[in-house]
Amino acid sequence: MAKSSSGRLVVITGVTKGLGEAMAAKFSTLGHTVVGCGRSRPAIEALRQQYSAPHWFDAIDVANDCQVSDWAEAIIKQIGVPDLLINNAAIINRNAPLWEVPPQEFNDVIDINIKGIANVIRNFIPAMIERQSGVIVNFSSGWGRSTSPEVAPYCATKWAVEGLTRALAQELPDGMAAVPLNPGIINTEMLQSCFASSAHHYPSAAEWAEVAVPFLLKITAKDNGNPLSVPI
Ligand SMILES: NC(=O)c1ccc[n+]([C@@H]2O[C@H](COP(=O)([O-])OP(=O)(O)OC[C@H]3O[C@@H](n4cnc5c(N)ncnc54)[C@H](OP(=O)(O)O)[C@@H]3O)[C@@H](O)[C@H]2O)c1
Repeated sequence: MAKSSSGRLVVITGVTKGLGEAMAAKFSTLGHTVVGCGRSRPAIEALRQQYSAPHWFDAIDVANDCQVSDWAEAIIKQIGVPDLLINNAAIINRNAPLWEVPPQEFNDVIDINIKGIANVIRNFIPAMIERQSGVIVNFSSGWGRSTSPEVAPYCATKWAVEGLTRALAQELPDGMAAVPLNPGIINTEMLQSCFASSAHHYPSAAEWAEVAVPFLLKITAKDNGNPLSVPI
């Protein structure tokens, strides 16, 4: 079940809704092979019905390194080494001042948004380095470069994504790239959580993907370490 000879192998975390789901649709329409994950089993089953092989979807929690390790091993063996690795999966805390965020909720935001990215990188990048090519895009946010009240845990993780990615970029061999990406402001469940009803003033994930996916496909080794933003 190797990837099609034309097109790139794109691995996307968090494809069950929002930006990840919209990216999966656009990449596949353009002829690329999409490998994706998310925790929701019904949503993963629906994606399997919608996209046939060589596309591949699994119920994986990126915060669980064992799950990510088994997933990466299977994909690299059966489909190939990613050309484009997109760390999109994330959660946001419910709006609240930092001192009112319960410890478990704070931990979950850190575990998924920071440790989840490290787990994916740990398990996929060695094969990309061996091949000496590939692009890693770690989803940051406007709140990875600025701050607002009531989303301190989320801001902390996105500032971490910026630092982690720029340090990673200094470790990669020539020919590869790692970039933090601010996707813009898009009407998804995550935005509805923090912006409430004003979220509907922003573009849909499908509208965003029309611009974002061609932008992602143009990222090359020349961009290594540069914080990027989707031009919407
Ligand atoms: N929407 C915006 O305006 C905006 C702005 C700035 C940055 N971003 C960033 O863009 C990315 C996508 O956001 P979105 O708006 O599309 O959010 P979303 O609609 O809430 O979707 C998040 C996706 O991540 C997955 N996910 C969450 N935890 C996971 C885990 N532990 N393991 C695997 N998958 C997991 C979710 O699937 P399951 O629940 O099935 O696991 C879902 O598919 C995030 O990194 C976000 O921080 C978004």
